[in-house]
Amino acid sequence: PQVTISDGNSRVSAILPTGESVTVLLIGATVLSWKDAQGDEKLWLSKDTRLDGSKGVRGGIPLVFPIFGPARSDHPPTSKLPQHGFARTARWEFLGKSTSEGSSSSVKLDFGLSSDSIPDSTKALWPYKFGLLYSVTLDKESLNTTLVVTNDGEEPFDFQILLHTYFNIKDISTVQITGLEDSEYIDKVDGAKIKAETSSPVTFSAETDRVYTPAKGAKHPIVISDSGVTRFRIVRDNLDQVVVWNPWFEKAQSMSDFTPTDGYKNMVCAEAGSVNGWQKLDKGDAFEGAQTIYLS
Ligand code: BG6
Repeated sequence: PQVTISDGNSRVSAILPTGESVTVLLIGATVLSWKDAQGDEKLWLSKDTRLDGSKGVRGGIPLVFPIFGPARSDHPPTSKLPQHGFARTARWEFLGKSTSEGSSSSVKLDFGLSSDSIPDSTKALWPYKFGLLYSVTLDKESLNTTLVVTNDGEEPFDFQILLHTYFNIKDISTVQITGLEDSEYIDKVDGAKIKAETSSPVTFSAETDRVYTPAKGAKHPIVISDSGVTRFRIVRDNLDQVVVWNPWFEKAQSMSDFTPTDGYKNMVCAEAGSVNGWQKLDKGDAFEGAQTIYLS
């Protein structure tokens, strides 16, 4: 595999001998692009996204940490944080690559962010000593993203994490997501009511913003099909929730960084995370959560 650092040290790209590729922006360690050997893009990316850290990337795989959604007054330790936290807008360090050669070659890119490398203005919002290690592994048939959180300080801290993946799809009106049957979810477009999914696949015909806790557990794949074709299979590790999001027309129109506006027809977010309640990490402890996305 070849690994290149480009655009004035702002992004890292890797390409396998068979042609599959991945590009990661150091802002947020955001995966911006994942292509198969034919050059087909698997992730959706807005044409007007910011890439300078003034906002999270609108597309790819932004990393949500240490809070999901807006700050809430009922949880004082995270009440000063911006929506979805600071990891997606911070500049991460590229720590290096590991590769395996041969017929099943793969490449792993490692990125780090810690309390020592964030600005004082960010520390003022969340004063804990932490370390984040994010690994992006590209294989011929899959992409794995793994986040390890460590508590490097004396005080315990609470956090949430989410891998906010924007999948590139052909036609949202034909998309079906399976693996969420009979699962409880919080419906964020209906006053955060708690509902139960039926035994049918999830389909889309309006703004959708739901936090599922899949009944079948993390190893059971979440499958996205599009125009009758199975496209992606997501297997989670230690991430108990799946957020399903599509802004639909009006919400897409209201977001200045979402272009084209009818791009909502070509994307769906299925986001593996731990966002119901809080993960608590004591001094010296570590948490690891991951997703593997398989192409079908
Ligand atoms: C989703 C949330 O994960 O992210 C939505 O469930 C939110 O409520 C969406 O609108 C996008 O968030 P942001 O901060 O990137 O605009």
